[in-house]
Amino acid sequence: MCGIVGYKGKDEACDILINALKKLEYRGYDSAGIAIWHNNKIAVGRKKGKVDDLRKVISNGNFKGTMGLAHTRWATHGEPSERNAHPHRVRDVVVVHNGIIENYIELKEKLRNEGHKFASDTDTEVIPHLIISHLDKGKDFIEAVRLTLKELHGSYAVGIMREKEQIMIAARKESPLIVGVGNKEFFIASDAPAVIDRTNRFIFLEDNDMAVFRDDEMFLMNTDGEKVERKIHTVNWTGAMAEKGGYRHFMLKEIFEQPRAISETLLGRFKEEKGQVDFEELALPDLKKVKKIWMVACGTSYHACMIGKHMFEANLRIPVETDIASEFRYRNPILSENDILILVSQSGETADTIAAMKEGKRNGVYTLSICNVLGSTLARDADGVIFTHAGPEIGVASTKAFTTQISVFFMLMLHMAKKLGKMDTDEIRDMIAEIKKIPHKIQTILDHISPLEELARRYMTCKDFLYIGRGIHYPTVMEGALKLKEISYIHAEAYAAGEMKHGPIALIDENLPVVVVSPRDQTYQKTCGNIEEVLARRGRLILFTDDPSHEMADRVDAVFTVPETIYELLPILCVVPLQLIAYYIANLLGTDVDQPRNLAKSVTVE
Ligand code: AGP
Repeated sequence: MCGIVGYKGKDEACDILINALKKLEYRGYDSAGIAIWHNNKIAVGRKKGKVDDLRKVISNGNFKGTMGLAHTRWATHGEPSERNAHPHRVRDVVVVHNGIIENYIELKEKLRNEGHKFASDTDTEVIPHLIISHLDKGKDFIEAVRLTLKELHGSYAVGIMREKEQIMIAARKESPLIVGVGNKEFFIASDAPAVIDRTNRFIFLEDNDMAVFRDDEMFLMNTDGEKVERKIHTVNWTGAMAEKGGYRHFMLKEIFEQPRAISETLLGRFKEEKGQVDFEELALPDLKKVKKIWMVACGTSYHACMIGKHMFEANLRIPVETDIASEFRYRNPILSENDILILVSQSGETADTIAAMKEGKRNGVYTLSICNVLGSTLARDADGVIFTHAGPEIGVASTKAFTTQISVFFMLMLHMAKKLGKMDTDEIRDMIAEIKKIPHKIQTILDHISPLEELARRYMTCKDFLYIGRGIHYPTVMEGALKLKEISYIHAEAYAAGEMKHGPIALIDENLPVVVVSPRDQTYQKTCGNIEEVLARRGRLILFTDDPSHEMADRVDAVFTVPETIYELLPILCVVPLQLIAYYIANLLGTDVDQPRNLAKSVTVE
């Protein structure tokens, strides 16, 4: 996810753009760039690093002008570097872009055949080349941009200028971009916070909209060339609130970003007509020779591994061993060169997980990392890497990274199942259809959160919680317990529900809330037995299920129902209310939700 800003007005653009870009740094911060138009010349400055590093580049006074674009990057294609930073310039056209151009490889080939030379590893660079290609065929600037946008598959939010004309064009498809309407000045931005100090009047562009800023005016059209009308909204946000998009905390914002985060993680992976999931960028070993798959991580990422284990063993019938990275590296694991070692890490910088990767490499094992930060150590040094496109996760408590990690495991499982002949085309198509419904199903949950806020008020004073679940929902409740303890500081323990009689049942009384995940799956009856055991000891239960007619529903304290889906994907839907309950309790207790005491976003030391 990147941050884009643009300005066209009466004031000097440079400082306005840099200040706005600083407020978008949470969207991405591995490189930044700016382009300022003045008297038919465009000055471009780019720098690896943060916006403050870019300031040094533009301090030479060459960036005067009242129209410009700026960009802070969160790399998806092409490692963080100056050459891959935006804006991308081709001849007199400059472009900033947020999104993923799915068909950039084909477009690059076509353009190369026309004699175009590429200077970066990014998907974005095809955009200015395409515009130039249309300009060379006699199209005017606006038409050249419109035709270019029509050729792009995937997602884009773009800002475009060219030296010959004092025109700025903005457009969006599946990536956010808004227009700020000021007093004789216009803005474009990835979200309102960036420019809220200059205007609170915004047009929220819709997919395929284009905004053209020419002279002192702006007009809207779409990529079919039709005129478009959009309402100007007034947003009542403070600057501080705005950086979080109106949410009180980054964690809450990131919980609500999960539908988009999963959609972007899925983007470009499916060839449904062939029943394929595409991970062609991986040079996986011959799967038929793989005797064991290891999944190793820390914290939330470890819980994702435990869910991945259930997916892989159920469908691939290959033994999977999961381990906490800090344990794995000290137990001299028995690795064979035909094993695959999967390392999961949001930050890509967790010391124990990096050490686990090195252990695997020392033993000649194929290492595959699942990361959320391009250019991170695990992303760079593993033999293969799959990125979760969750966008930067600022809240210390991991939320959207977790659900996108599970999504990656699911897609990787389908990819391997195809290669191993464990699933036929129809089965894979059905599975693809299921995961594509998940973002909407999460949104359904997010649209009905008031019962969870009520639950938080009822249980916020409790000093201990027990979380129980079976099968794939044991790691689900482990994740729910971790969320609660790390942001509210309330003790919360997760247990496999079948273990109740082996000790934890001694804890049960009317003071101990028991959170139970009990979907209508193969362990349903057994978990109902656990619920009976808790009720028999005056325990208080909060039930999460996909079954609106759960036989225990009218005997427990509270029930929260999530939409149905297949076994492998239900953890994604069940964890969302668990994340929210933890958030609302912590928020009521007034803890520092985004930066809880004693914690860090990335544990880069042992
Ligand atoms: C999760 O909410 C915690 N912040 C923590 O357990 C985290 O998952 C763990 O430190 C692993 O981090 P990583 O995914 O960046 O490797």
